[in-house]
Amino acid sequence: MDCVLLLLSLWALVTTVYLQDTGSCPERLLGEERRRTCPRPCKTDSDCGSKRQCLCDGQCGLSCVVPGRTCPWPLPPSDSTEDRLLSPTHSFSALLEVRCKPGFKLSTGLDATIRRCQGDRQWSGDEPICTAESDSTCPLPDQVTATFSIQGSAAVGTSILYSCLSGAPIVGIRENFCQDNQTWQYPHPICEKVFCQPPKEVEKGYVVAVQKTEYEVGFDIHYLCKKSFLLDGPQKITCLSNGSWSASPPHCRARCLIPAERSRVVIGGVKRWPFDVTDAMVPHGENVTFFCKHPRKQCSFTTLQVCFDGKLQTPACYLEPTWLQFKLFPHRLVSEIEKCDPGDVE
Ligand SMILES: *[C@@H]1O[C@H](CO)[C@@H](O)[C@H](O)[C@H]1NC(C)=O
Ligand SMILES: *[C@@H]1O[C@H](CO)[C@@H](O)[C@H](O)[C@H]1NC(C)=O
Ligand SMILES: *[C@@H]1O[C@H](CO)[C@@H](O)[C@H](O)[C@H]1NC(C)=O
Repeated sequence: MDCVLLLLSLWALVTTVYLQDTGSCPERLLGEERRRTCPRPCKTDSDCGSKRQCLCDGQCGLSCVVPGRTCPWPLPPSDSTEDRLLSPTHSFSALLEVRCKPGFKLSTGLDATIRRCQGDRQWSGDEPICTAESDSTCPLPDQVTATFSIQGSAAVGTSILYSCLSGAPIVGIRENFCQDNQTWQYPHPICEKVFCQPPKEVEKGYVVAVQKTEYEVGFDIHYLCKKSFLLDGPQKITCLSNGSWSASPPHCRARCLIPAERSRVVIGGVKRWPFDVTDAMVPHGENVTFFCKHPRKQCSFTTLQVCFDGKLQTPACYLEPTWLQFKLFPHRLVSEIEKCDPGDVE
């Protein structure tokens, strides 16, 4: 017990003496020192050579240094920093203030730092880097800018006005103020939810989607037509952000029965017998050319009809040959005789 007390007091004495001797110089902190090398450690000048003195060299602690050695000065000019010597010289232990120019800040958030001229003739610490200060604005998240058209500036001390890009009414406060601490005075508003009403049904067609009572913006409805019907219009419609559909629903158009039996007609540029055409039908939108007889001459002229949604009229001039004419005089059918000269047709 006595022994421990004695050791403790001895340790206290030694420490006190040491601190008196060294001032407030820290002990060498190996590992934490950023410098690659520290000069030789020492306790008194006698530990160093004739030119060197035992001086406190920052985190290297007491070290043998040449006091007259200088650190680089002046430093190369920089766009972001201003350097100022705080000591009369730039030799060992001189202090240098590095201050960020206006609009720049150190990564620590401060605008200045102090460096000390070390025994290795370098200024202490890392090269300070001043970076441009972020503008003093309030944040506008992408989601907000994607939803609203924003008038005004998001800078501190100013206000903005929201309007929904969709044209929908705003729910919440329409004007917001950017406060000094770069926060908005109010939460961002929201846009009233928009829906599209079910589009009208397509006869002879069906939708490739779950039928709903209302559809969200961006929802697509795809259409198909029943067999033998032709889609006329968009295959897909989309619910727009203003609650309208991108287009009217399409129509499913019926094929047309060719209203001729014993005459050839021109379909798709080919002269054919109706009974040679599949189902004797043409699709919606197809042109069918009929042959009519010249009222006085033994020649034919053509007239065009278009199939529209199941309706294909025979032209007024067309006369359906009788069964006998067709069987007995096939070469005298109007569709088979000579074409009239252009001059013959009035
Ligand atoms: C910002 O400032 C406003 C008003 O000065 C205050 O009400 C709000 O709590 C502050 N917000 C933060 C995150 O400091
Ligand atoms: C919705 O927007 C579309 C395209 O932007 C436009 O053509 C349509 O007229 C608008 N409808 C209404 C009801 O405003
Ligand atoms: C039908 O005829 C019109 C005019 O004669 C032409 O513009 C159109 O392309 C034709 N349609 C088809 C499907 O051939």
